[in-house]
Amino acid sequence: MKVTEKSFKGKTVLLTAGPTHEPIDPVRFIGNHSTGKMGYALAECFAAHGATVQLVSGPTNLSAQHANIIVTPVTSADEMYAAVSQKADAADILVFAAAVADYKPKVVAEKKIKKAGDELTIELVKNVDIAAALGKQKKAGQFSVGFALETHDESANAREKLRKKNLDMIVLNSLNDPGAGFRHDTNKITVIEQDATTAFELKPKTEVAQDIVNLIWERIQ
Ligand code: CTP
Ligand code: CA
Repeated sequence: MKVTEKSFKGKTVLLTAGPTHEPIDPVRFIGNHSTGKMGYALAECFAAHGATVQLVSGPTNLSAQHANIIVTPVTSADEMYAAVSQKADAADILVFAAAVADYKPKVVAEKKIKKAGDELTIELVKNVDIAAALGKQKKAGQFSVGFALETHDESANAREKLRKKNLDMIVLNSLNDPGAGFRHDTNKITVIEQDATTAFELKPKTEVAQDIVNLIWERIQ
């Protein structure tokens, strides 16, 4: 079947994208190298196929082009979780493409931390796992997709995340593949489901997004 025939008309896709920034003090944060490219490419692709897209985005330099993409900008994991929780009920498809910081500073200093001794220790506490929390309250008929970036035991780790977060599909990108992952315009993915594994070639992120959207479309028929 041709791609153009794959319609998501009437479907709402809730998508997280980009990094999160976890504040240390008023001028500093803990972040990561996620650009949001993969998430935004997915948002455009779903919208182009007729979906309404709720894009909850961490800080990026990107902007959504399609009129059917509604962007909710957030900064931290807590803010992302609040926005996602509020929109989850209305979603048919949930895609967790954000690189959420696993930990945040335990206390956020009210004032800028001044340079003092030779060492500085910042205590971190675990952030909410947005995908796992939403997985616990997944409704019948909702289809959820996560991402995993692994450097070792790739498929075993990805499978474990599929199970733990109650996902229907997990998109694995290996950092061992040159040209894949953060700061590249290309990506090489393997899609892991309960009973299927689908490997794709290295290709531009826009085409990777199309492959993922095609596969989701097939699964929700
Ligand atoms: N995720 C999330 N909230 C978090 C951490 C991760 O929603 N606090 C989502 C990501 O968006 C992704 C999936 O969970 O879709 C897997 O993220 P990943 O960082 O690979 O998994 P973790 O469970 O955080 O495990 P680790 O970083 O230790 O590999
Ligand atoms: Ca993580």
